[in-house]
Formats: sequence, C-alpha cells, structure tokens
Amino acid sequence: MRVEVFADRAALSQAAAAFIKDAADQAVRQRGVFSLALAGGSTPLETYRLIGLDPTFPWGETQLFWGDERCVPAEHPDSNRGAALKALGPPEALPSDNIHPIRGRLSPQEAAQDYEWRLKGFFAEQGRPAFDLVILGLGPDGHVASLFPGGPGLSEGSAWVIPVAAPSGIEPQVPRVSLSLWAINQARQVLLMISGAAKAPVVERLRGGEAPDLPAALVRPQEELVLYLDRDAAGD
Ligand code: 6PG
Repeated sequence: MRVEVFADRAALSQAAAAFIKDAADQAVRQRGVFSLALAGGSTPLETYRLIGLDPTFPWGETQLFWGDERCVPAEHPDSNRGAALKALGPPEALPSDNIHPIRGRLSPQEAAQDYEWRLKGFFAEQGRPAFDLVILGLGPDGHVASLFPGGPGLSEGSAWVIPVAAPSGIEPQVPRVSLSLWAINQARQVLLMISGAAKAPVVERLRGGEAPDLPAALVRPQEELVLYLDRDAAGD
C-alpha cells in the first residue's frame, strides 16, 4: 500500500490526474488497452475534469466503466455516470462505444445482471474483472463504491456485480448497483481518493487498524493499493 498526503483537494486532484494518466500510458504500452472504473461521489470530479482536458490522454484506447451507480436515470443529478461524464467533458477522443455505464434506469437487480453480463463479455479472455485501475472514494462510514459496512457484496462469492439497498442515513436514499469486493480486488490497481475533514474520523479508525471489517479496509487489489488524501482527511 502506498499513502500520499496532499496540502488540499486541488493538489490531490492534480496528483490523481497524473497518476491515472501514468496508469493509462503504461496499460496501453503493455496491453494496448486501459480499462478504468470510475468512482461516484464528489471527490474525484475535479480529477475527471483534468484528465478530460488532457490532450495526451489515450482516450481512444480507454474503456470506461463505473464501480457503482445509483438507480436513477443518467440525466438525474445523483447519477454517477451523468456526473462523471459531465466532469470529463466527455473528451471527443473517447469513442462512445468505449463507455460502459451501469444502467441506473433499470431496477437494481436488472441493472446488476446487465452490467455483470457486459463485464463478463469484456473480460471474457481473463475470466475475471481484471480492471487496470479502479478509482474509489471513501464514505464517512467506511464504505467504498456501494459496499456498506455489514452490507452485501463483501464476502467471497460468484457475483461480480450486486444490487444494494441504501442503508438508512446514506444519501441519496436510492438503491444502488456495485461491483462486489471480490470484483474490485481483481483490479491491478486501486486508487482511493479521500478529501475533507468529515473523513478524518474514519481515516483515523482505518489507520489504527481498529476497523478491520470496514469495506475500505478490505480492498486488496492484485498489484497496488494507492491512497491519496488531503491534509484535512489525514487529520494529525
Ligand atoms: C457513491 C460512491 C461512494 C463515494 C463515497 C465518497 O456512489 O456515492 O461511489 O462510494 O465514492 O461516498 O463520496 P464523496 O467523494 O462525495 O465524499
């Protein structure tokens, strides 16, 4: 695991954009394709804007996925797909066929099945969801993607994608669809982006090893877990 702390969210966003660009260049050099799963939430939006503006980003070779989605139409302000694509631009160089959203308009069960089926087609050769990079945010309760503490998708199983009911207190209160923990852990790299003082208490718990069962503590990708925090989230 590699942990880096940045002065503020702007610095974190820039560093994350550079990290994603490096991962993309390396994947394209080695395998000719870069499979990237984006996070929902607000923290990575500035990073998406920065990579969307980067004329040297290999968009033609990038295949874009999402780690989770809220079950709302793409035009809805709570849609992870809508928010990410708006922040990205999306860049003209990204072919529309390379965009693989979770269909939030469907019921959670249908959307999960549909997404799992499309992922199994895309990763047919590997036989597992071997994303080059999965980006995650961290919820104040320790959730990542839509994997909530004590919720579904955390134990070893055959599901790549699961439907999830929003636990009470989680906004927005809509059902979600998420990669399972197992699926996230098949990725080569995971970049966990954490910003703001509201995240400091959960970061503290994770750091002290007091919360080994929190979803964020269970993320173990195949090659590297990278944590980018700003100073407010890192606390002391
Ligand atoms: C979602 C997410 C979720 C998010 C965290 C952090 O759909 O809500 O994927 O896991 O990344 O809740 O959200 P913020 O970046 O907005 O704090």
